[in-house]
Amino acid sequence: MFTREMKLAEAVQVNLNTLNVVIRFGIKLGFGDKSVQRVCEEYNVNTDFFLEILKAYHDPNYFPQKHLQSFSVKEIVEYLRKTHRNYIDDEIPYIEYHLNQMLRGCSYAKEIGLVHNLFTEYKQELFKHLSWEDEKIFPYAESIEKAFVGGQGSASIKEVISAYSMTNFLEDHDDIESKLYDINTLFIKYLPPVKEQQLCLKILKNFSLLESDLNNHSRIEEKVLAPKVIEMEKQLLTRI
Ligand SMILES: [Fe+2]
Ligand SMILES: [Fe+2]
Repeated sequence: MFTREMKLAEAVQVNLNTLNVVIRFGIKLGFGDKSVQRVCEEYNVNTDFFLEILKAYHDPNYFPQKHLQSFSVKEIVEYLRKTHRNYIDDEIPYIEYHLNQMLRGCSYAKEIGLVHNLFTEYKQELFKHLSWEDEKIFPYAESIEKAFVGGQGSASIKEVISAYSMTNFLEDHDDIESKLYDINTLFIKYLPPVKEQQLCLKILKNFSLLESDLNNHSRIEEKVLAPKVIEMEKQLLTRI
């Protein structure tokens, strides 16, 4: 499906939604006829990791968690952090911009206002979730890998792990994408016919795209990052 020899432009054409992934890796548009491998080398991106993420985004049934777990925590976290930035700086403001546009001068301000308010609440919840991971979970995962690679196995690591382990993360990790699905449903079911049908469609499409993107993102956190760190925790504890 996706190979290192194929042109990156062709890979993107297979599924345009993968363009988001390409951008998150810091790859700029305008790659011409260059192959996936060549572009990855130019941008200092691990080609194998890039290909695995592309495949996972393209096909929800292709989820090589074992394969993805062969990459370092540092690499996985770096990608997850970039995805967070993309949500905060681009995806959410884009939807907000269009919702505001719809709200302006609309004769159904009450209904659109309701969706707008729900989305604002959702945004706050999502940002809280992202900063919890950025500030607490990811640094923890990186510190476990550092101790693991450094051959450490000290009493202080035991204390760190027993205070908050990656198993706790799995219990605390909220399902942030289903709430977005609820807003989407409300939007489809209860919005009266509005003049701006195209704008409405654009917002709906972006809700669904963000929802499926968040789904993929959460799967990487729960099925790739967490099990990898849990395994390291186990091995670290045996070294004490
Ligand atoms: Fe996340
Ligand atoms: Fe998350």
